[in-house]
Amino acid sequence: MATRGGFSSRLGFIAAAAGSAVGLGNIWGFPAEVGAGGGGAFVFMYLIFCFVLCFPVMVTEIAIGRKTEKNPVGAFNALGFKKWNFIGKLGIISGFLILSFYNVIAGWAFGYIFEMAMGNFGVAENFSAFKLQVFKVGGYGLVFMITTAYVVSKGISGGIEKASKILMPTLILMMIGLVIYSFTLENSGAGLSFYLLPDLSEINGTVVYNALGQAFFSLSLGMGALITYGSYVRKDENIVTAAALITIADITVAVLAGLLIFPLLGFITQGNIGNGDMATAGPDLIFVTLPQVFEQIGTGGALVGALFFLLLCFAALTSTVSLLEVPVSYVVDEFNIRRKRAVWMVAGLIFLIGIPSLVGNGYSEFFTNFITYIGADQPTSFLGFIGSIANDTMLPLGGFLVVFFAAYVWKKHNLDDELAKGNPNYKGSFVQKYLNFAVSYVSPVILGIIFILTVLGTFFGINLI
Ligand code: TRP
Repeated sequence: MATRGGFSSRLGFIAAAAGSAVGLGNIWGFPAEVGAGGGGAFVFMYLIFCFVLCFPVMVTEIAIGRKTEKNPVGAFNALGFKKWNFIGKLGIISGFLILSFYNVIAGWAFGYIFEMAMGNFGVAENFSAFKLQVFKVGGYGLVFMITTAYVVSKGISGGIEKASKILMPTLILMMIGLVIYSFTLENSGAGLSFYLLPDLSEINGTVVYNALGQAFFSLSLGMGALITYGSYVRKDENIVTAAALITIADITVAVLAGLLIFPLLGFITQGNIGNGDMATAGPDLIFVTLPQVFEQIGTGGALVGALFFLLLCFAALTSTVSLLEVPVSYVVDEFNIRRKRAVWMVAGLIFLIGIPSLVGNGYSEFFTNFITYIGADQPTSFLGFIGSIANDTMLPLGGFLVVFFAAYVWKKHNLDDELAKGNPNYKGSFVQKYLNFAVSYVSPVILGIIFILTVLGTFFGINLI
């Protein structure tokens, strides 16, 4: 398999996997969820889930990938459990679905760079109208997909690794700059305390459950993205340490995004943040509320705004790259198709699958009010529907299946052997005992429960918690 390629350095793998993790989920999703439910209490739950529940899943995915040096479907075959390769197939389908709508949102962010740079802050109040211009917005999406495909077509070390090594540090530096700036604004303190002081009485079923979904999506788990990246990792790499660094990087960027956004919200609400009326919360936070803040900044607002969306696009790009790499690695390994060819075929197909998500924001009545779940009073758009299926349902299911498989089918001692490579002190360590316990019990039980609760709650209107 000399031609398969791989990461050229340990930093390269960590940068790429952290790049996959850090994305719209951190900068768009995380602050929006914090604002919508619980403030600091949400942050608190999110951190616990990342370490206790998600970290074992991440380690397991990387270990399976490195052991087999295969894509998520081939990996199960290579371990000798062909029957279980449906887990990988589910992952490939999730990758198709997630990238199809993720790219639409990335396209909006891309378009916003230009709107902000031109000082066109009015786009925010007219966000619905912006989304209606499907040819323009679709064009932005197309450029985004082509950029993603270009990076993936360059392969692992020359494309994914190289891009991540440049984009990730730039992203962090830009964010720190913007955080410092937002701290200087009036009433930034009110935003910060809403964000950082957990009011534990705010914790309820929804907060717990959203925090878990957020942690899972944000760390890129549950669809074999890390099986795929793991397959390019060198044998002398310490997987546990790498996974810890990836998790920390992901959390850092999410926390930084909050430190950037909540002071801005403190500023625009004149300190009245968190009083229940949050026009500021939810998915509209980034596209509707923030540009109004940039507008109020006055001179320099256009620059700050354009920088913010540029940063969002950087983060999104290293994520779309990982989403595309999963089906591409499958097609390359299993059907012996050249990488370049596979990339353009798959990217083109995913772009087409994304069209209903693109037009389902008002342009097409059918895709806008696509489906009404049982017990819901509002219809859900196609984009929302794909999100519920892929993010909320298939990812926790995939995560559950992966840890269940590792613990009970592949068996723990095999997982241990793989984790001990590049980590001579692993066996007998506390970390080993903890991971064994988590992979066998904590992660599968909780993920299994979450999966069932989501299906009942989302699609059937039966809310058990
Ligand atoms: N983690 C990315 C984000 O936060 C999204 C993402 C990229 C992803 N690859 C993934 C999510 C694989 C699940 C699985 O934006």
